[in-house]
Amino acid sequence: MTRIVVVGSINMDLVTRAPRFAGPGETILGDRFLTVPGGKGANQAVAAARLGAEVALVGASGGDTFGRQLRHGLSAERIDLTHVAQLDDYASGTASITVAGGENQIVVVPGANMQVTPAQVEQAHTLIACADCVLVQMEIPLESVEATLRLGHRLGVPVILNPAPARKLPLEWLKLTRYVTPNQHELAIMLGLDPNDDFRALMQRAPCPVVLTRGAEGAWYREQGEPIHQSGFRVDVVDSTGAGDTFNAALAVFLHEGLPTAVRKACAAAALSVAKFGAQGGMPQLSEVEALLALQSV
Ligand code: RIB
Repeated sequence: MTRIVVVGSINMDLVTRAPRFAGPGETILGDRFLTVPGGKGANQAVAAARLGAEVALVGASGGDTFGRQLRHGLSAERIDLTHVAQLDDYASGTASITVAGGENQIVVVPGANMQVTPAQVEQAHTLIACADCVLVQMEIPLESVEATLRLGHRLGVPVILNPAPARKLPLEWLKLTRYVTPNQHELAIMLGLDPNDDFRALMQRAPCPVVLTRGAEGAWYREQGEPIHQSGFRVDVVDSTGAGDTFNAALAVFLHEGLPTAVRKACAAAALSVAKFGAQGGMPQLSEVEALLALQSV
């Protein structure tokens, strides 16, 4: 069984569905409100577990009601929480999300997530040493992201860095990653370049292999030479929240099958994930991904 370690955030998502996004200073009426589990780290852990991987999460939750609910949900997905700290003096991370027309706007208050330390990452050393792949995002302190990259590199375990929310990163860190998985905006910010530049040109400027997500258009990937395109899979979009997390998880789970196959499966899994409400609501089981792939190959 593929073993995945995710180092990242755990949030409660406070999701409002509205007919459109409100402008600055404007009040509009929404039509639905839900409190659902989220956080890029937790989402990627759940998606990987549903795709059949053995998953452990390194992170932190608060000692509040959200924290208890979030831990309970992750345990129910068979995720190893040995390295998830429960911090009674901190609030759990939250994300205020508006969903309109299948798109979303997100404001994260990290809370306990900002207490994930490099030492905590080091404590998961044995787990990481046995992993097939490590996933890390940027809703935790950057020094803990760096610690994850350095540890994975030292142990020879591939680390996928999902650089979201986007920040400019030292090129030296990027050289430690097996793949970075930004969208166009994140890639430009990460490299300190212009987001309006052609995305293929931006990919060529990265000092490491890039898998670039392009929403409904699918993904582009480049190890060396020219970027290669993988088309997206057509679906009716209900809520795109968590699609990127599903993509990253699938990429990690299927990486041992080679990059082109892993990217194709990641596009299929991400497409399925947007068909239901909530970040984790639509994340598919392995059988659903296989069924979609079989359908598309006839
Ligand atoms: O990627 C989607 C996630 O981003 C949401 O679940 C939210 O919690 C934020 O972390």
